[in-house]
Amino acid sequence: MSAAIQPATEAFDQWAAAQLDTVEQALSAWVPEQAPAGLGQVMRYGVLDGGKRLRALLVLAAAEAVAPGVASVRVAALRAACAVELIHAYSLVHDDMPCMDNDVLRRGKPTVHVQYGEAMAMLAGDAMQALAFEVLTPESGPDAQALPPALQARLCARLARASGYVGMAGGQAIDLTSIGKPLDEATLRDMHRRKTGALLQASVLMGAECGLPPAGAWAGLSEYGAAIGLAFQVVDDILDVTHSAQSLGKTAGKDADAGKPTYVSVLGMDGARRQARELHVQAHAALERTGLPHHETLAWLADRVVQRDN
Ligand code: IPE
Ligand code: IPE
Ligand code: MG
Ligand code: MG
Ligand code: MG
Repeated sequence: MSAAIQPATEAFDQWAAAQLDTVEQALSAWVPEQAPAGLGQVMRYGVLDGGKRLRALLVLAAAEAVAPGVASVRVAALRAACAVELIHAYSLVHDDMPCMDNDVLRRGKPTVHVQYGEAMAMLAGDAMQALAFEVLTPESGPDAQALPPALQARLCARLARASGYVGMAGGQAIDLTSIGKPLDEATLRDMHRRKTGALLQASVLMGAECGLPPAGAWAGLSEYGAAIGLAFQVVDDILDVTHSAQSLGKTAGKDADAGKPTYVSVLGMDGARRQARELHVQAHAALERTGLPHHETLAWLADRVVQRDN
C-alpha cells in the first residue's frame, strides 16, 4: 500500500522558510553566548546553523492546524518548537560521543566532542537539556501570558516523558546494548519508537497542546505522530545505506560497520522501504481522522519524512 507523495509546493516552501527563519532567530536569542568557561559557545555550536528542524516544523504546523492564526498560540508554540530542538540537539551531541556512536561529522561539521573535547560536549548536552525546560517556563512578560502555568506544566511533562527513560534515553539504551545482536522486528520497532519516535510524536502533541485541540482530534494526532516518528527512523536507517556523507552531513554506512540492528539489517532494503510506505499511509489516514480542516502542512511534513535525501 502506498499514498501519493505531493511535490513540495511554493506555499509549503514559503511557509517552511519563514518558520525556519523565526526558529533560528529564537534559538540564537535563547542559547546564551555568555556561559561559564566557554560553555555557551559549545552549546551554540551544537544547536545553531544546522539541521532540518523537522521537529520544530511539526510543533508549529500542529499548533496552526489546531488554532489557525491565534497569536498567543503561536508564541507558545515557538517556545515549544525551540525546546524540542534543544532536546534533539542534545541527544545528537551525546549520540555522537565516543562512548556511543563515535561519530566525527554532524550537520556537515566536526562533531561537538571533536571540536571542543568530550567533557565540554557532555556538559553542553546536559545544559541544552536543562535549557529546553527553561524555554518552556517563561516567568514574566507577554510570553508568560501566552504560556499560563498549567500549559507550561503540560508541555514540560510531555517533553520529559518523550526524552527520558520511557522515550529517547530508553531507546538509546536499547540501541547500545543491541550491537551485534539479531533483534526481532517487535524489539526493533520498540527501540525506534522510543529513541526517535517519541520526540517526533511529542512535537506534534506539544504543538497541538498549545492550541487546545477539540477532544476528537487527539487520537488522530497521536497516531499521526507515532507513524511519522517511526517512519523517520526507518528512513534514517535506509539513508545510512543509500546516501553519501556529503548528502547526509554525517558519516554514511556506519550502522553496518558498527553492527547496529536497523530496519535494513533486520528486514532488508525492500522490507524497510515497504515499512516506510505503510507508515506514510497510516500517517495520512490518522490525519484524516483528526477532523481538523487545516491539516495540509502536517500532510506535507509526512511526505517530507519519507521522501528526503538527508
Ligand atoms: C537525526 O535526526 C537523528 C535521528 C533521530 C535519526 P535528524 O535527521 O532530524 O537530524 P537534524 O536535526 O536534521 O540534523
Ligand atoms: C539517533 O539515532 C537517535 C537519537 C536519539 C539521537 P542514530 O544514531 O541512527 O542517528 P544518526 O544516524 O547518528 O543521526
Ligand atoms: Mg545512535
Ligand atoms: Mg548516531
Ligand atoms: Mg542513523
